[in-house]
Amino acid sequence: MLKINNITMRFGGVVAVNAFTAEVKKDEIVGLIGPNGAGKTTVFNMVTGVYKPTEGNIVFSPSEENSHSLSTLSPDEIAKIGICRTFQNIRLFKHLSVMDNVFIGNHLRLKSGLLSSVFRLPNYTKEEKEMYDKSKYLLEKLDLYEEKDEKAFSLPYGKQRRLEIARALATEPKLLLLDEPAAGMNPQETQELMEFIRKIKEEFNLTIFLIEHHMEVVMGVCDRIYVLDHGAHIADGSPNEIQNNPKVIEAYLGVD
Ligand SMILES: Nc1ncnc2c1ncn2[C@@H]1O[C@H](COP(=O)(O)OP(=O)(O)O)[C@@H](O)[C@H]1O
Ligand SMILES: [Mg+2]
Repeated sequence: MLKINNITMRFGGVVAVNAFTAEVKKDEIVGLIGPNGAGKTTVFNMVTGVYKPTEGNIVFSPSEENSHSLSTLSPDEIAKIGICRTFQNIRLFKHLSVMDNVFIGNHLRLKSGLLSSVFRLPNYTKEEKEMYDKSKYLLEKLDLYEEKDEKAFSLPYGKQRRLEIARALATEPKLLLLDEPAAGMNPQETQELMEFIRKIKEEFNLTIFLIEHHMEVVMGVCDRIYVLDHGAHIADGSPNEIQNNPKVIEAYLGVD
């Protein structure tokens, strides 16, 4: 579904990602790990079109008949063809309600367009109703419906993370990128998050690419894992293979 071919990202003299190649197959949960500053978020920024790779290319195939080279597409266009993400630092509209946060995620799928939305034309109103129903469905599925009228900032941390994922799901992604979803979570929330990731994968027919620091999450939910260190690929394999790979252990212990 996603093919990352030999991508390099340079920021001035800094090589954030160096000739990285990876693939994510349909229905997989693939992990991307590595020490701080390894280039993980930069990979996500290239997949979502925030940055264009200095070299290499990325191809997204949402279905067998359909293939898109991401290098010429804007972040919006990439979202429309089915790639959505969450951020390392939670990004929510803090002062809007839980419902409104998910509602906004739906806008990407609006057919009537911005003008009908601004002028509240009849087809918009019908779509708006559908959007409301869809948002309600998502909140119920993600166990956030009881909090629908609360302001996003008032939710406990674990629920804010879930809300951010709910908003991402409102765009109907095929490939979901999660950037350190367990960051800042306590062990209980982390445990719940793991079950949550498995559940939404099944429920929404998702393929997932996941950056994570909590090893229990990575080892517990991923089918395969890629390891980056200083921008370069140092290993890939099953959780078991990665756990026992001396290069990976070295990278994490910072031994040169
Ligand atoms: N926009 C940018 N401008 C300059 N340097 C950047 C930029 N984004 C990331 N970097 C650098 O690229 C490297 C990798 O960063 P990042 O991808 O955020 O790492 P990770 O997510 O693995 O912690 C770091 O050295 C970081 O400072
Ligand atoms: Mg990061």
